[in-house]
Amino acid sequence: MPGIALVGIQWGDEGKGKVTDLLAEKTDLVVRYQGGNNAGHTIVVDGERYALHLVPTGVLYPDCVPVIGSGVVVDPQVLLEEMETLAGRGVDTKRLLLSGNAHLIMPYHLELDRVSERRLGKNRLGTTKRGIGPAYADKAARIGLRAQDLLDPKIFSEKLTVALKEKNLLLTRVYGRLPLEQADIERAYLDYGERLRPHITDTSSVVQAALDGGKTVLFEGAQATMLDLDHGTYPFVTSSNPVAGGACAGTGVGPRDIQRIIGISKAYCTRVGSGPFPSEADPADAEILVEAGAEYGTTTGRKRRCGWFDAVVGRYAARLNTLTELVITKLDVLSAFDPIRICVAYDYEDQRFDAFPPNQTIFNKCVPVYEELDGWMEDITGARRIEDLPKEARGYIERIEELVGVPISWTSVGPGREQIVRVTT
Ligand code: GDP
Ligand code: IMO
Ligand code: MG
Repeated sequence: MPGIALVGIQWGDEGKGKVTDLLAEKTDLVVRYQGGNNAGHTIVVDGERYALHLVPTGVLYPDCVPVIGSGVVVDPQVLLEEMETLAGRGVDTKRLLLSGNAHLIMPYHLELDRVSERRLGKNRLGTTKRGIGPAYADKAARIGLRAQDLLDPKIFSEKLTVALKEKNLLLTRVYGRLPLEQADIERAYLDYGERLRPHITDTSSVVQAALDGGKTVLFEGAQATMLDLDHGTYPFVTSSNPVAGGACAGTGVGPRDIQRIIGISKAYCTRVGSGPFPSEADPADAEILVEAGAEYGTTTGRKRRCGWFDAVVGRYAARLNTLTELVITKLDVLSAFDPIRICVAYDYEDQRFDAFPPNQTIFNKCVPVYEELDGWMEDITGARRIEDLPKEARGYIERIEELVGVPISWTSVGPGREQIVRVTT
């Protein structure tokens, strides 16, 4: 099975980094297909913590080629800094490949992300302020600059002139900010281009050749299904398509090249930023989850909103991604609760919804229907085999599997690479 996609099925931070790392050992290429440095993927190896934002997780294995596909938006300064930090820790980043078609995050995208959030006031989305939305907006408006433009100063300058004219009008006339200088941007970006030159290539051909040659390619999703621009809780979403289908558009492979689709979910649920979250816990339980799960954002350090596992969201994600398996992370965090709640359906007015509701008015106002399961109230971080887990913990996993309708292959019981339990044989 050479093509594997790994996707978050909630609102992000499910532990995709940890699970990608687990699979990357036996993988030839790890390919990011969407998002940018709004992502924060954490891997803990022998007590050493790596937080990756743009570089694909496979970088930690010397035989794995990390690839940034065309669907990713790239802040070249952040990418170079991340590569330098990794190199400083002894991780070789020379193999990294960057699609020439990937769009660039420009200084005005960062500025526009900040000022538009400020303008929205209490209606703000709570973005990561990394310029993601404005960069994707320019891509769609066809005034974006791409990684390959960094290698041709004349084209870069021409495209920047067109884009900057509009952005400076927006920044000065609408937002009352100072204009940005073309020469400053050109100088900085062309220097980034020279440094990135050895990495920029046609990654779509590289990935296809690997698949055709029977190599294993892992498509590493960032963000998650409920943050998907088309299928998530719009407008409280990111500006790309994290769903498994996005892996095709964002790398240039066809749907038949992906055979295994792994959904990653926490044993409970978290969300950073604004927007509806039906199974959000009451403040006292949320606080316990924050503390037990160290629920602070990897990218922005914001405290994550916490709640219970939502099986309606799980079923919706299983359908949208055609999941072939599910991995449940952070099971250890639930050791703090007895009983444990699972949201199994939503009530809205006199209607019950087992499936994801058809419009956002219902989703915003629905009341979660909970089922309570016995907790285990003991430390499970040392479990390595399914038999090591208390029967209540196994019962919890089985119930999630039943409610979502997708087989659970692994469950994770701590942040470390080794803290993982195989569920199905
Ligand atoms: P990602 O964005 O999906 O890669 O997830 P993040 O790295 O942003 O957030 C997941 C957090 O949970 C990180 O701090 C991980 O180290 C941590 N983590 C992952 N799996 C487990 C687990 O099974 N138990 C615990 N306690 N922490 C975990
Ligand atoms: P990983 O890959 C959690 C959220 C932001 C905000 C919304 C839009 O680590 O799971 P954006 O900056 O993308 O325009 O913000 O999306 N968000 C994430 N939340 N994990 C992420 O990535 C996220 N990337 C974006 O908090 O609500
Ligand atoms: Mg994260």
